[in-house]
Amino acid sequence: MKVNGKDYQSIWFEKEAQSVKCIDQTCLPHEFSILTLNNLADACNAITAMQVRGAPLIGVTAAYGMYLALREDPDSYGLARSMLLKTRPTAVNLQWALEAVDKHCAGLSGKTLVNQALQTAQQLASDDVQICASIGQFGASMLEKIWQSKSDKGPLNVLTHCNAGWLATVDWGTALSVIYKASALGVPIHVWVDETRPRNQGAALTCWELSQQGIANTLIVDNAGGHLMQHGQVDVCIVGSDRTTATGDVCNKVGTYLKALAALDNQVPFYAAVPISTIDFSMSDGVKEIPIELRSAREVTHMTGIDEHGKRTSVQLSHAEVVAHNIGFDVTPARLVTGIITEKGIYQATEKSLKRLIA
Ligand code: MRU
Repeated sequence: MKVNGKDYQSIWFEKEAQSVKCIDQTCLPHEFSILTLNNLADACNAITAMQVRGAPLIGVTAAYGMYLALREDPDSYGLARSMLLKTRPTAVNLQWALEAVDKHCAGLSGKTLVNQALQTAQQLASDDVQICASIGQFGASMLEKIWQSKSDKGPLNVLTHCNAGWLATVDWGTALSVIYKASALGVPIHVWVDETRPRNQGAALTCWELSQQGIANTLIVDNAGGHLMQHGQVDVCIVGSDRTTATGDVCNKVGTYLKALAALDNQVPFYAAVPISTIDFSMSDGVKEIPIELRSAREVTHMTGIDEHGKRTSVQLSHAEVVAHNIGFDVTPARLVTGIITEKGIYQATEKSLKRLIA
């Protein structure tokens, strides 16, 4: 997608420098900075520090991390794999990508192993672009229908939570791909963007990337969505997911569940846009089974931004001894989900419907 009119992906392999490059998302929206990943430690750190984030991008970065580890030491496979797997617990794409590397690299050693690991990471990256584009196409037709059914034909108001855009994938995004593709079909769209405390992915990333693509957007505080829905100002909610169960429970950034409850109460359709790699067919009860990431209390007690001189700064919100609890994700039960938009089409959030994806 475009950054100041120039095409970028969120991660890529630079042949000349033989290194992996990615956009450092901790600097956005105030600074556009490219990060070089030279080794396994860089890849692990980029994921844990959330320089790269979003379920599909975490998976692709882990695959590149395997390549970076193996080129330094082809005997480090097991250690590198377990270090990468520990970086973040909720997004199943991480495990899925490492399993893809396992499958393609099985039985190889030395230089052949290193080359194959790189090839696999590059393949996962280019597949992700196609998958996200396809999610966008299926979702766009659905948005077009909702817009056509609007009596006033004014802009379609979409509410989204966190960042499920191209920054969270290699390109296009999941929830935001649907918006980009619908806009290309001629649907006038306005997006309500939840700020997404505590790390503010909505405020820092989603507003920025939507604006870069020329999509109208308005930043709202996390608790405003219910009010807007009660007043008919939201036509549809679309979110991403870090892990969706075989039964259609959707785990996404904390706060998603409350939006889904408000959506049901106000007859607003609520969709999750997910690549099939995000569906964990081994799990059936999202609330009981999905591991939820606990992050540093400092993300709740402090806020980071720029001051009036443009200098990056962090401010403390609460008193120094406060106890804070920082849950990264929550689970929206399938009964609240209108549909799951995948690269193969839109499915009901039920076991019977989702089973068709692996049939
Ligand atoms: O903690 P983050 O920023 O990695 O959380 C990201 C999300 O919650 C996204 O909605 C999800 O990964 C879907 S990305 C297409």
